[in-house]
Amino acid sequence: MNTQELIENAKKMVAGDKGLLAMDESNPTCDKRFAKWGIPQTVEARRAYREMIVTTPGLGESISGAILYDETIREQKKDGAPFVKAIADAGIIPGIKADTGAKDMAAHPGEKITEGLDGLRGRLAEYSQMGARFAKWRAVIAIGDGIPSRGCIEANAQALARYAALCQEAGLVPVVEPEVLMDGEHSLAECGEVTEEVLRTVFAQLCAQRVMLEGLILKPNMVLPGLACPQQESVDEVADATVRCLLRSVPAAVPGVAFLSGGQSGELASARLNAMNVRFKSGLPWAVAFSFARAIQQPALEIWRGKESNVVAAQQALLHRARCNQAARRGEYNAAMDKDMSARTNIPQVAKPAA
Ligand code: 13P
Repeated sequence: MNTQELIENAKKMVAGDKGLLAMDESNPTCDKRFAKWGIPQTVEARRAYREMIVTTPGLGESISGAILYDETIREQKKDGAPFVKAIADAGIIPGIKADTGAKDMAAHPGEKITEGLDGLRGRLAEYSQMGARFAKWRAVIAIGDGIPSRGCIEANAQALARYAALCQEAGLVPVVEPEVLMDGEHSLAECGEVTEEVLRTVFAQLCAQRVMLEGLILKPNMVLPGLACPQQESVDEVADATVRCLLRSVPAAVPGVAFLSGGQSGELASARLNAMNVRFKSGLPWAVAFSFARAIQQPALEIWRGKESNVVAAQQALLHRARCNQAARRGEYNAAMDKDMSARTNIPQVAKPAA
């Protein structure tokens, strides 16, 4: 392991006002999102969608790194150039999703454990050879009646730490993603308590597995009320609760926190990230960045709909959301920006599909 290179790469991933673009949806997740918009669920449709993303002109000005899926890292553009090359040529660091998915956890109804440790050392070596410089592993924690259990939190935290140690051994920066899900009726305070317990456990395990904190990125959820909770706090209250939770549980040696969006609307994810940077940036030990999938990609997917003729408009929408989040990193985002930019770039309005 080249320690200095790991540290430098981790810093680059959250440097300035850029952030990460997650485009590592597994095939079933990607197909599910395509189905909703009547897009064929084929290898070629997924490839064409990813080509639309990686060839977006100027994307590297707001995106520091892109997380790919196993299928995508092996694919090429129509002209034969590998995606990894297109990304690197755009000044974007290629990354890879390293877990193999969250599966039902034995003896823990309603809970999941993320798999993928078997054979991971070999897969990471292959990804590194293909050009990946970082990797991601997502654990999911649900809040509900009697859950999360201690068993679920500990098993997922240990898997995250074992994965992170293997990443660093392979010279890849681990993006450590313990996601406390938004689904449910739980309150903001409950989400804060669970997130704090999860993060404390994850960092205890990272230390036990001798992971170098300076060479990793944390990808947590924001502290939010459940989607079905009647009380939905303001943007500033969410920012305060999130930063308070992270300050209690994330060591200062970590270079950056890059949030997942988790199903928030693009506008809300940007507004909440913005509020954290406006209210706290100067006093925080780590960069507060983004690693969004839906909060960057969603409008682009809705416009693209599998049609070559929609590629340019979809790319404008993608770039627009990336730039909104870049502005949020500087604390300069406001909701009007979303509207202004749509008007300026002629992004078409699309009808929503039936639920
Ligand atoms: P969302 O931003 O859509 O939550 O996706 C982030 C991610 O990478 C989930 O693993």
